Amino acid sequence: MTGTIILVDTRLYFEDKKIWGDPEVFRPERFIGEHGELENASSVISFSFGKRNCPGELHANIVTFLILTALLQRYKISNPVGQPTPRQDLKPGLALKPYPFQVVFEKRK
Ligand code: HEM
Repeated sequence: MTGTIILVDTRLYFEDKKIWGDPEVFRPERFIGEHGELENASSVISFSFGKRNCPGELHANIVTFLILTALLQRYKISNPVGQPTPRQDLKPGLALKPYPFQVVFEKRK
């Protein structure tokens, strides 16, 4: 029907075991092919679902890459000894967010 608003629940999608098998496992290799190329890119719907698309996708990807690589090049990031690892479930609220956790940033030489 014309004018119908469709909201996509991306969380349900990204937690679907039928699509990902083990969505709760951090396994970036699921997106990396044999020769280091991006694989299964069309399964990632973070920036669009259907015909509409986020116009900020390129900017967001570049900025995320720059910030992450700058941090990882300069610091070794780890879990403090004796502290629990971050919780896997999310804190409910207007937007879901991680529960607080501690990390150690050790400057690389
Ligand atoms: C990680 C960062 C971002 C994510 C995950 C994201 C995700 C999305 C998604 C899912 C949509 C809806 C697309 C649809 O209708 O199916 C959207 C729309 C949009 N995004 Fe982003 N976005 C991000 C960053 C940005 C940035 C940096 C900008 C601007 C500089 C931006 C500008 C917009 C605009 C203007 C729309 C509305 C487009 C329209 O309705 O035609 N986004 N984004």
